[in-house]
Amino acid sequence: MSKIPLSKCFINSEVEEAALRALRSGQYILGKESTAFEAELAAHTGTTQTVLGSSWTMIVYCLHQLQGIGPGDEIIVPSHTAFPTMEPLIHLGAKPVFADIDDTYVMDLAHVESLITPRTVGIIGVHLYGHPIDNDKLLAIGKKNNLWVIEDCAQAQGAKYKGKTVGSMGDFGAFSFFPSKNLTVLGDGGCITTNKVDYADRLRMLRNHGRQGKYDHEFTGYNVRFNEINAAIGRVMLKHLDGFNENRRQIAARYNEHLKGIVQTPPVREWATPVYHMYVVRAEKRDDLQKFLKEKNIETGVHYPKPNHLQPAVVGLFPYIPKLPNTEKAVKEILSLPIHGEMTLDAADQVCAAIAEFYGKK
Ligand SMILES: Cc1ncc(COP(=O)(O)O)c(C=O)c1O
Repeated sequence: MSKIPLSKCFINSEVEEAALRALRSGQYILGKESTAFEAELAAHTGTTQTVLGSSWTMIVYCLHQLQGIGPGDEIIVPSHTAFPTMEPLIHLGAKPVFADIDDTYVMDLAHVESLITPRTVGIIGVHLYGHPIDNDKLLAIGKKNNLWVIEDCAQAQGAKYKGKTVGSMGDFGAFSFFPSKNLTVLGDGGCITTNKVDYADRLRMLRNHGRQGKYDHEFTGYNVRFNEINAAIGRVMLKHLDGFNENRRQIAARYNEHLKGIVQTPPVREWATPVYHMYVVRAEKRDDLQKFLKEKNIETGVHYPKPNHLQPAVVGLFPYIPKLPNTEKAVKEILSLPIHGEMTLDAADQVCAAIAEFYGKK
């Protein structure tokens, strides 16, 4: 059986031509392609502003700096997310306060509310695996307590909450274009979406050495710029994003149909249009199942095997280890199955057949 990969990057002649167009343009950083990509991303998300940066991590670091985050500040984040979600705030001396998850793997908002203290300044809501968090509730908590809200959309580009695209509802949305993401630029990259023009203007300066004009530096900044070749590629990828997301939903529907009663399939809230960055099941004998699937040439993953509140980097920094029972249970049972924008139903059927065989339900 040929390998069924966990994810796969889309590359066609259109992508190659876009890269060549940028290569031949003679302009390689923050040029016309980047400007157009920013406008197209803003239109797709439904915000007035998009600011590209060299990665999610670095553009969020710049954003946090503009927000004035520093020592003494507490920011509520899920523990069950990619480690980078809380890296920038730690670099600025702030403290991540970890919330547990619900059955859709996003933050349990009742727990979030219980974690608010006078030192809390903001909340980062992660639309993990491409399933949106309950944004109305999240924003209401933010408003009531005078906290900013960042939507971490790194795994949810194009997902919708009550018909609105994620990244358009919080104070800021933050996206990643890493190769495995639903929208990639075939390299590193990320962006912030917002309607706050003042922030966007200063973020554009901060990512480029605090520049206004070529030799006018209003403040000391960084090099967190974006490359033209990646922007040209991203523009092509964006045209395909909704189609690929629809394909992911069809693969997920097939998995749901055939895996029901065999493993625990991912629940979806009635207000969510998920984009299945990952299709995550909970399985008995998870590690054995993963090994069995590997022998059948089916690639799977565990996102993530160790929660962030138990990572050595975090435990060493903060003299407390919270108890997050849902997170700690989930990480032992979750398994991400193959899914991507071009995956076929036939491949999904092969994955389902192998899982059924493992559990003797063929
Ligand atoms: C949820 C989440 N947040 C943040 C990031 C960081 O993105 P980047 O690699 O572009 O810095 C990722 C990517 O791994 C992610 O999945």
